[in-house]
Amino acid sequence: MPTSKDVLLARATWLNSEDIRPYVFVRPENKIDQPGTRHKLDWFTQEPIYKNPLDVKELAFANAIYQIEWKAFGHQDLAIPRWVFYDCAAMPGFIAGYAGRTKKMPKKILDLLNYSDENEWCPLSLFIIIPTMHKGEWVAYDLCSVNSLLPKEEQFYGLGFMSKAFALWYANVAQCSGMTQWGSPSLKLHANYGHMEMIGSYAPLHTHAKTMTYRCEVNTDCWEKFFSKEVDLAFLEKYGPTHLSIEPNSEASMIHIQEKIQNNEGPFYLSAGEIAHRGLRDPLTIYKLKQG
Ligand SMILES: CC(C)(COP(=O)(O)OP(=O)(O)OC[C@H]1O[C@@H](n2cnc3c(N)ncnc32)[C@H](O)[C@@H]1OP(=O)(O)O)[C@@H](O)C(=O)NCCC(=O)NCCS
Repeated sequence: MPTSKDVLLARATWLNSEDIRPYVFVRPENKIDQPGTRHKLDWFTQEPIYKNPLDVKELAFANAIYQIEWKAFGHQDLAIPRWVFYDCAAMPGFIAGYAGRTKKMPKKILDLLNYSDENEWCPLSLFIIIPTMHKGEWVAYDLCSVNSLLPKEEQFYGLGFMSKAFALWYANVAQCSGMTQWGSPSLKLHANYGHMEMIGSYAPLHTHAKTMTYRCEVNTDCWEKFFSKEVDLAFLEKYGPTHLSIEPNSEASMIHIQEKIQNNEGPFYLSAGEIAHRGLRDPLTIYKLKQG
């Protein structure tokens, strides 16, 4: 019987390489106390590369992280200004991802990031989370990987997924909230870190009103299913489908469900298994806790 790590390594083969390692980009005062002790998981055995975002000697690495962000999000009108990266990520929060040994990385990536091979490590992805005033809850607001800039055959399968997984594990995150736009491929990733409660289906306060806001109790039992695409029996045992659905092409459906959420008719959940097998713009069933 293959372990969850076998399943992971069979699909994300780049994780077998010593030339790719997780990195932690956090100011010294925000370093995590006893990293990786909350969630029992044997996926992350490599020592992360540590970088201090406030150290100007690390500017090249920081600029490359920022390049990934800027290039991945630029066309969606969601790239963060530099001051947000500094004030709202580097100062209060936690940034992590994967980095490759620069001399071993394809030249195309270095060109894309305008990166010199004089730097030992080159960032390949980023994930940003900040703790909230609600104890134990963090808000995730940025996930990007170089995969989005590369043709399929040159991608590192699972890089985006593993970047968030590593950060949640390393920072001992109990509850993770986040925001994503309906129809975004990232929903296929975000739905797998724990059962996904939809706490908002429409956000007119956001740059993009068609934004979904979610929350999950981080549960590493779910993570393997991102790779195996197996049915999550625990989800189906706990939640049942309703007659409601959300349609990424219909703003009216988002507003309709938002009204129900505000009317306390929830809590409503989305099924990672269903999302995995649906197209990005297909309707998604809304689930609720089964009675008694
Ligand atoms: C969204 C993003 C972070 C995903 O990271 P990634 O490294 O490309 O994805 P991973 O390799 O970890 O996962 C691959 C899976 O993601 C999904 N996926 C990724 N890109 C996809 C696309 N364009 N269309 C459909 N599904 C996609 C698929 O489920 C795929 O697995 P499958 O082929 O087995 O179905 C990355 O594409 C990105 O940086 N996008 C631009 C920024 C962005 O929109 N971020 C999300 C903010 S909430």
